[in-house]
Amino acid sequence: MNEEITHNYDLILKNGMVIDGKGTEPVKMDVAVRGESIAAIGFLEMDEATRTIDVAGKVVCPGFIDVHTHDDNAVLKSPDCLPKISQGVTTVIVGNCGLSASPVRLKDKPPDPLNLLGSEQDFRFNTFREYRDAVDSICPAVNVAALVGHTSLRVNHMPDLFRVASSYEVEAMQEDLEISLASGALGLSTGLAYATSRHSTTEEVISLASKVNKYGGIYATHLRDEFDTILDALAEAFEIGETAELPVVVSHLKCAGPDNWGRSEEVLNFINNSKYNHRINLDCYPYAAGSSTLDLGQVDERIKILITWSENHPEQSKRTLAEIAREWGVSQIEAARKLQPAGAVYFSINEDDMTRIISHPKTMIGSDGLPHDPHPHPRLWGTFPRVLGRLARDQKLFSLSTAVHKMTGLPARNFRIKNRGLVQVGYAADLVVFDAEKIADTATFENPKQTSIGIERVFVNGIESFRDGSTTGRRAGTFIQSQKPEE
Ligand code: ZN
Ligand code: CU
Repeated sequence: MNEEITHNYDLILKNGMVIDGKGTEPVKMDVAVRGESIAAIGFLEMDEATRTIDVAGKVVCPGFIDVHTHDDNAVLKSPDCLPKISQGVTTVIVGNCGLSASPVRLKDKPPDPLNLLGSEQDFRFNTFREYRDAVDSICPAVNVAALVGHTSLRVNHMPDLFRVASSYEVEAMQEDLEISLASGALGLSTGLAYATSRHSTTEEVISLASKVNKYGGIYATHLRDEFDTILDALAEAFEIGETAELPVVVSHLKCAGPDNWGRSEEVLNFINNSKYNHRINLDCYPYAAGSSTLDLGQVDERIKILITWSENHPEQSKRTLAEIAREWGVSQIEAARKLQPAGAVYFSINEDDMTRIISHPKTMIGSDGLPHDPHPHPRLWGTFPRVLGRLARDQKLFSLSTAVHKMTGLPARNFRIKNRGLVQVGYAADLVVFDAEKIADTATFENPKQTSIGIERVFVNGIESFRDGSTTGRRAGTFIQSQKPEE
């Protein structure tokens, strides 16, 4: 054995309170980085490094994994990824809700809600491989892992989205999906509530999902219904997972609409008691409002609806649907019809339901931020500091270590992302240094594009990419491919 000791690290973060991502309590330790990896953890006062930073009194933890994003094109168009890196996010999972930038072969404008990802010219990736290569060549500030969206597959192979796929179309989608999985996709996502896939049957989804297991992927789903029939929608998701033998992630779990407020306990009990419970996980954002394109089915006069953009009436953005309808002298549904295509924030969630769901041990943090929206829901900029500051520290819903676990170790395990999500020797040096007393989100519904406070330093693959409120201009994100299951 070579006895030569080489303790020269590139970086040592000294005296920090290390939260390792497993959910265990913070421990005061030093963390050393060499190259892209964590090289040592412990008391390293005798060791030398090119750079040593004293982070006494600050938390050192794994970079956050945003499990639910629509950043497919944003990571390429704005590779600094300021909304993400400023929150301590070092990895984004794109391609959620059935909507992925690849593989997409458009013949026309992207149908609503695929337009959440961008406009026609943004859909340039005929194959998943092309998307992956684009990420690697642009090298965004954060790592990117991607799901393949059911709606995207439908758009490629179905001239009419408003019906069930034929067996011929299913076969073509299966092939498209398998090529993507072989190129490193993490799994399949659906958005069965959306018009573009609502007409698919459970069998259609199962025939696609059943191709995912052999690539070690997962199934993530925006449920067919988040309103009155949510239990049926959950049962469908579990049936798909069980039949296709896949772990299931229920995306942005919520009890939507005033008629369903207070049902979170019932919904969580239904999940806890499901026979497939051991392979079900959840994600949630820390707000009592959702956001998407403006959907007539979600217009409800009992709740506030904020218009964030409108193609026909851009001047109406940042106003409520109620105000616009009153001014136009029409009903809200009529106003919505005139505004479409448009974007909206729906104040359709009860705060207590949200806090109960986000506190569940299976729940990971996913922002569901919409970077293409000119006046986005504040979750795009505020989700992670809001969980750490408001929910963990101020409301004491769970410990800081649990909060970190929900955004690091838990998602890495559930999405099968290898060697990330923990402060552990040999793991990628995706690290965040933050001030637990100060950390807070500042983005609001009125002023949504605001960086949070308290995130002091963010390292991605060993490179310091964010410090004290701004990017350092150094980007080191990579594409993260799926890991084949261990034989
Ligand atoms: Zn969704
Ligand atoms: Cu989403």
